[in-house]
Amino acid sequence: MTPSEIIRLDRQNLWHPFTPNSLWLDPASHPISISSGEGAWLTASDGRRYLDGNSSIWTNLHGHTHPKMNQAIRQQLDQIAHSSFLGLTHEPAVRLAQQLLHYTQLKNQQPKLTRVFFSDDGSTAIEAGLKMILQSFAQNGQSQRTHFISPQGAYHGDTMGAMSLSHSPSFHRHFEPILFPTEKVMTPFCYRCPFNRAKPEAADARVYRKCNFECATQAEEAIHASRDRLAAWVVEPRVQGAAGMVMHPHGYATRTATAARQVGAKVMADEVLTGFGRTGPSLASHAENIVPDVLALAKGLTGGYLPLAATMTTEEIFTSFSGDPARTFFHGHSYTANPLGCAAASASIDLLESPMEIQKHTHLIQNLTFHASTFWSHPHVGDVRQEGAILAIELVSDRATRTPFSSEKRVGATICQRAREFGLLTRPIGDVLVLMPPYCTTADEVEKMAHALHQAIHQELGS
Ligand SMILES: Cc1ncc(COP(=O)(O)O)c(C=O)c1O
Repeated sequence: MTPSEIIRLDRQNLWHPFTPNSLWLDPASHPISISSGEGAWLTASDGRRYLDGNSSIWTNLHGHTHPKMNQAIRQQLDQIAHSSFLGLTHEPAVRLAQQLLHYTQLKNQQPKLTRVFFSDDGSTAIEAGLKMILQSFAQNGQSQRTHFISPQGAYHGDTMGAMSLSHSPSFHRHFEPILFPTEKVMTPFCYRCPFNRAKPEAADARVYRKCNFECATQAEEAIHASRDRLAAWVVEPRVQGAAGMVMHPHGYATRTATAARQVGAKVMADEVLTGFGRTGPSLASHAENIVPDVLALAKGLTGGYLPLAATMTTEEIFTSFSGDPARTFFHGHSYTANPLGCAAASASIDLLESPMEIQKHTHLIQNLTFHASTFWSHPHVGDVRQEGAILAIELVSDRATRTPFSSEKRVGATICQRAREFGLLTRPIGDVLVLMPPYCTTADEVEKMAHALHQAIHQELGS
């Protein structure tokens, strides 16, 4: 098909996620059709090349068409593409589970997560986790524990359970009448925190904040207030992605998880985005020194190659399903533990643990840190925050007062659209620009990405 045929037929028959129809179908817009990729680069059907500035929606770790990833998938394909996991097993799943147990273990601690339940994506990993927790409590004589608390702006996916645990009204408001009620506490977001008394500075607001950590105190109080009925405290450790790459003050997850444990509730960590080194360490929970009772992984699990998710949990939760067959976890999906996905995930974890890839990851984080500071040259940059391999640049109409642009202006979207002309593909979250490239991205490529964003900001907002 020619590039224009692809776009014409796409517009005629397809429906894209999180994409306003009016923009996609606008004849003046120029949708891009991707035909191939290599490393940090994506090539469009018309031959143009772009840097993958958001790792293909936060999934890709080692770059596109990595020879080891491709080889692992091909080798598995020659054996079998898929067989049921209902009452059957296979080596790729068993091997991957061993790797995950090792990878998620907090150093110098007894292994706590001992069971792996596979599903297909971040939303299903969360859905499985919340059902495990509810059924486990019910089977342990605590059926009153049905309450969940999570921070404002939380995003855990788009299935009904995941939406209920989320607090993202702009995405989920139409479904609110049928979502189950959950509780929200304030977002631990230093830059826009009503308790932060510090005047704006040209630095990550977490560094110069002046407060008494009220966000953690409020969460602890809410957790204690619902003590006997609380099923779980649900948290995206360190970074709330879809909320706008909101980066938590360090220690928030530690304090809140401790409170949940004190009242006998479970801690569910959503590391769909933050897992596999995205925030630096293997897991963001490790940086907070916590091991959750339920851990949701997806996105980077397969290095961004195939859809697969894992919900990991403890022996205690697993054994609460033992005994009478009526206690079975009646939950699963046709493609649970898909062997191709498992093979890709195994290869990805091997790469994550290889010295060369560890070095690339470290260099990427350093390069992002270097470029982060350059964005302060734009007067409309209000906050620049970084957690590991995630860099977020929040644009504001007035830096001194932290006043946002009016949402109708769609400043973030316009700038990212403009960045395409300079060879960068990334998606904003509102007016937060995001750079989170694959770990293989070289210093030169990071420089190109940063340059593209600078040019785009300059063209849209002046200097
Ligand atoms: C923290 C978090 N949890 C869950 C999800 C849902 O994952 P998926 O889109 O794979 O269903 C996302 C997606 O962005 C996410 O960022």
